[in-house]
Amino acid sequence: MRVAVIGGTGLVGRHTVGALRAKGHEPVVVSRGTGVDVTTGAGLADALDGVAAVVDVVSNESTDRVAAEQFFATETENLLVAEQRAGVGHHVLLSIVGIDRVEGNAHYAGKRVQEAMVTDGAIPWTIVAATEFFDFAGKVVDWTRTDAGAVVPPLLVQPVAVADVADLLAEVAVRKPLGRVVEIAGPETHDLVDMARRTLTARGDEVRLIARWQDSPFGVEMAGDVRLPGDDAHIAGTTFETWLEAQRG
Ligand SMILES: NC(=O)c1ccc[n+]([C@@H]2O[C@H](COP(=O)([O-])OP(=O)(O)OC[C@H]3O[C@@H](n4cnc5c(N)ncnc54)[C@H](OP(=O)(O)O)[C@@H]3O)[C@@H](O)[C@H]2O)c1
Repeated sequence: MRVAVIGGTGLVGRHTVGALRAKGHEPVVVSRGTGVDVTTGAGLADALDGVAAVVDVVSNESTDRVAAEQFFATETENLLVAEQRAGVGHHVLLSIVGIDRVEGNAHYAGKRVQEAMVTDGAIPWTIVAATEFFDFAGKVVDWTRTDAGAVVPPLLVQPVAVADVADLLAEVAVRKPLGRVVEIAGPETHDLVDMARRTLTARGDEVRLIARWQDSPFGVEMAGDVRLPGDDAHIAGTTFETWLEAQRG
């Protein structure tokens, strides 16, 4: 099956393209790097020619709520219109577990807009909502590091391997649209500070860790079990330790 992967050169996108190929399908890689801009729609009609399903794993790192909402609203509108013209039968969106439970996060606000447009849209859909990826702790360190150290909040998470998420996206995309959200999480819960410590050890990075909510990118509204998946989530197999080993290798 011909499946367009929007954001197909990104972290999740590359794995999704690989997973589709491994299952014998024909992925179409869509990104500005391949000549398509989903915020203007340029190149989209050609990219969707003959495509049966679209997997949207595009991203935007804006920390401004209005900008994030605008980005996801515009790209989703352009995609859904182009998909209708091209006769695409399935729109698969990658979202994030628990975004309805956190108010003060610009990216989550953008993802909520994206989810609402997909569920209200005319293209049959499936939403895959993933928990944080294993590289998330390292990202938080990189976002907050100064000469004094890196601030990491004591967030309880059940992180997942990007490769496992990509496998599920590729599996879902070639099946009938479900019209519901499928959650995916990893096999274990972790404290983000402990994940950051283990990530830094694996990297051989000696930055000092400051474990606190204050000055971190996340508010205390994310404490407790707010970031954890529901009971019916798909539990992927790869453990954080296995992923860390691969990073060391
Ligand atoms: N990080 C997590 O823990 C986590 C957890 C659950 C879900 N997610 C979701 O996963 C998704 C993908 O994240 P990621 O880390 O894979 O992102 P990423 O590595 O930053 O990749 C983003 C992709 O989007 C493309 N892109 C950006 N702007 C574009 C535009 N205007 N037109 C066309 N393509 C554009 C980029 O390619 P070009 O730059 O070449 O355009 C790239 O291929 C996000 O929606 C995020 O919400 C993340």
